[in-house]
Amino acid sequence: MRVLILGCGYVGLALGRRLVASGCSVVGLRRSKIADQELIAAGIEPVQGDITCLADLDRLKGRFDGVINTVSSSRGGADVYRHVYLGGAENLITWARDRAIRRMIYTSSTSVYGQTDGGWVSETDPAEAAGETGRLLLATESVFMQANSSNGMEVVVLRVGGIYGPDRGHLFRQFLAGEAQLEPRGGRWINMIHRDDVAGAIETVLSLANPQGLYNAVDDEPVLQGDFLAYLANKTGRLLPPMVETNVSGGNRKRGITHKKVSNRRLRTEAGWVPLYPNFRKGYAAQIEESQKGV
Ligand SMILES: NC(=O)c1ccc[n+]([C@@H]2O[C@H](COP(=O)([O-])OP(=O)(O)OC[C@H]3O[C@@H](n4cnc5c(N)ncnc54)[C@H](OP(=O)(O)O)[C@@H]3O)[C@@H](O)[C@H]2O)c1
Repeated sequence: MRVLILGCGYVGLALGRRLVASGCSVVGLRRSKIADQELIAAGIEPVQGDITCLADLDRLKGRFDGVINTVSSSRGGADVYRHVYLGGAENLITWARDRAIRRMIYTSSTSVYGQTDGGWVSETDPAEAAGETGRLLLATESVFMQANSSNGMEVVVLRVGGIYGPDRGHLFRQFLAGEAQLEPRGGRWINMIHRDDVAGAIETVLSLANPQGLYNAVDDEPVLQGDFLAYLANKTGRLLPPMVETNVSGGNRKRGITHKKVSNRRLRTEAGWVPLYPNFRKGYAAQIEESQKGV
């Protein structure tokens, strides 16, 4: 199988490594050449290109059985989302039109679920993101979903939770830097997934005989913000962060505050995905140990 990974970065590189190990031929596209040596060392063929530039995509020659879009906005705002996610998706679908691609996978986000009631959310629940960036992600998903079955291509969208792993994990890093703040009343539910499990989820979906069009990719155990910080404080011997008041609308947070537990049941039980790190305690063990060296 020949696979193209667009945005071959944090997740893409881990995915490429796994696919190469399982015998695939993998091409990894990103704008910069900065990680070329890392890609080559992983057995991935690096290609320089920008998903927002159709001419760059047209330079990709040969047949691809699988195409995975893990391009990210690199923390940009709504304008970048519109350009990179939505514009990139439209380009990719245009490029794919006259090619015999078997399956295309796009890594969206659980931030498209706007629920605030603290309940469980599955793929059949409404996705009504409150913020502009969330709505742009939904529009991007819809570009991919509408391309499903065109020219025999199956399209799968993965709604991925907050990704953590080596050198990543927003709240963990805030905690270590003394910048974390406890939200009142235990805070909101956080839905996470380890980088290697995102890679595993993509690999699972790539090889499924009859995938559904949509899967949530999160670990087994959503955790309340306060419980997560208490766990970190306990494990590292540091003080709990101070408490702050947050308003319900989420102030100026890019995606607004949601409060929901995202279910991975479809990916777990129907697709047969088994996470290496089913919860944050397993997933963060190595990073916590690393952070304690020299303390
Ligand atoms: N981080 C999270 O918590 C989270 C949560 C939910 C979903 N996701 C999604 O999961 C996916 C993987 O995330 P990640 O953390 O692996 O992303 P990442 O490493 O931040 O970015 C992936 C790669 O995209 C490349 N890139 C950015 N703009 C590009 C463009 N216009 N054309 C081609 N390549 C471009 C970047 O390399 P260059 O700069 O060299 O181009 C980067 O290496 C993304 O789709 C992201 O939106 C992430």
